[in-house]
Amino acid sequence: MTRYFLGDRMYRTHNCNSLRKTDIGQPVTLAGWVNVTRDHGGVIFIDLRDREGLTQVVFRPEEDAELAKQAHALRGEDVIQVSGRVAARLPGTENPNLATGDIEIIPSGLRILNRTDTLPFPIDAEPQNEDLRMTHRYFDLRRPRLARNLRMRHRVAKATRDYLDSQGFVEVETPILSKSTPEGARDFLVPSRNMPGKFYALPQAPQQYKQLLMVAGVEKYFQIAKCFRDEDLRADRQPEFTQIDIEASFVTPDDIFAVTEGMLGAIFKAARNIEIKTPFDRLTYREAVSRYGSDKPDRRFGMELVDLSDDFRLSSFKVFRNAIDAGGVVKAINAKRFAGITIGQADELTEIAKLYGAKGLAFIKIENGEWKSPIVKFFSDAEKAALQSKLNIEEGDCVFFGADKWETACEVLGRLRLRIAEIQDLLGRARPADASEWDFFWVTDFPLFEWSPEENKWNAMHHPFTRPKTEDMPLFEAKKFPEVRAEAYDVVLNGVEIGGGSMRIYEPELQEKMFEALGISPEARQSQFGHLLRALRLGAPPHGGIAFGLDRLVMLICGEQSIRDVMAFPKNNRAMDLMTQSPAEVDPRQLRDLSLKLAKDKKL
Ligand code: AMO
Ligand code: AMP
Repeated sequence: MTRYFLGDRMYRTHNCNSLRKTDIGQPVTLAGWVNVTRDHGGVIFIDLRDREGLTQVVFRPEEDAELAKQAHALRGEDVIQVSGRVAARLPGTENPNLATGDIEIIPSGLRILNRTDTLPFPIDAEPQNEDLRMTHRYFDLRRPRLARNLRMRHRVAKATRDYLDSQGFVEVETPILSKSTPEGARDFLVPSRNMPGKFYALPQAPQQYKQLLMVAGVEKYFQIAKCFRDEDLRADRQPEFTQIDIEASFVTPDDIFAVTEGMLGAIFKAARNIEIKTPFDRLTYREAVSRYGSDKPDRRFGMELVDLSDDFRLSSFKVFRNAIDAGGVVKAINAKRFAGITIGQADELTEIAKLYGAKGLAFIKIENGEWKSPIVKFFSDAEKAALQSKLNIEEGDCVFFGADKWETACEVLGRLRLRIAEIQDLLGRARPADASEWDFFWVTDFPLFEWSPEENKWNAMHHPFTRPKTEDMPLFEAKKFPEVRAEAYDVVLNGVEIGGGSMRIYEPELQEKMFEALGISPEARQSQFGHLLRALRLGAPPHGGIAFGLDRLVMLICGEQSIRDVMAFPKNNRAMDLMTQSPAEVDPRQLRDLSLKLAKDKKL
């Protein structure tokens, strides 16, 4: 029996998803992984897998006893090469669920390219143990869902580059070893060997570099850029992530909105063949927070926040009255069909309310035509009528109240709204099927500043390079910081902030004033931002831009719940890479080279 292989010249003639009925009779060679082996009374069926798909190979002892014996010894994930002939499957044994389901390979040769050890987990099941997956990530990534996600990510990146290129944007790489730039997180630092005691910071974003590229006359810049932020991790946050970073000169927000909408349109078309609806809705920050209790609301379900302050201004219910008297508000949400709320759920929601600053959580259940709550007895008929009509109260509803400062009442009800939607399974968790389920919109007019009680000072809500809205310049000059709005905007998709940006300050005097408002001393301004301030004096054009979280965007496009599932080698929630066991200790010699001593080794 001749064992026919293309051998050293070529590993395969076809991939595992390419053979069809029309190929019957052809000699072929395939290579890949043993996906499944089945032994049907001595006949060995193997599903051979490569990244494109599966092809069945059938080893029959009556055709070649030796080959069948070798095949019998194969185990899942062994790497093999098979030569043979394409044959029709026996009538009735075709597999309509498989692209190659009409054919099978009758082998004339088998070469084992590599054997596989005991598997860390079965490849065809969704492993529950995340640590096990991450430790063997190269194996985890063989699973079709993750393999598909990686390829989807590639397609999104390619569509991004193609679109931005077509609009005249130029991709420019910026340094990874760079200088601290404040984007609100902690920096990752890299010690310098040549200059003992000095450190590079890994960029939290290429923000200053892209602005300097505008001063350099690049006019339209983009970059698919790695960013590094040492912050607490969540499902949509990693210490190392990727932005689609964009900046342009001589533009207004409308120009940035148009490029964004065009780019997202091109991405969704290329990735999912979906036509998204443009232009996107626009909501001001104030409106988003008032109506949904969030600056990145999920609008795919109702349960909007309703303001009742006017109705309860003279209420005899002290909790509401006091909140209003103190300059606050009374707001409520109506959770439909939630009167069956359990004690456990009520306790959990109360805990959430307290976590976000409420003193308690009042609610009313509407059951058997009755309003059930200890607080109802304090309500006048007029107050009840107002509730009834503004909240459209019906049998089976459950109404939750927030009586507090505007910010607190909105945030608390916004959090409750999301948790209740989760409990009631109102969130579009499945893969959205059509454009109507992709809710894109802009949030505009963010506050320029936010107060930091810990630092006892004003911080920039976006970053210190964001310009005040022109209409609010007088407020800025008058130092009425809480009232100043920024020329800043976010893009939200299905309740996830996928991007954010702003028009920048290009006047050196205004930038100095901004630093001053942020409590940055003149010396610190020079040492941290001297390069930027100098650049602004050398003919900086008006400019602005935006950056998107590529990982988040791909996560949503793939219907995943975590950005980890669309990154090849993510970190766990303690920012560790379990596969390479990093971070890791280093050789003392390396520390010496860097003139570093660990505090724990002080005695060294
Ligand atoms: P911002 O800080 O809003 O803006 O970041 C832009 C987008 O990046 C994504 N993102 C993240 N994704 C994963 N993990 C993280 N830790 C993480 N942090 C942020 C979000 C976010 O919307 N330089 C400015 C942009 C500009 O003004 O042009 C910036 O970085 O999707
Ligand atoms: P109390 O008079 O403090 O017992 O509160 C009466 C009800 O109002 C209880 O159900 C409290 O949980 C609730 N409550 C207290 N403070 C607030 C608040 N700020 N917003 C909404 N409900 C509250």
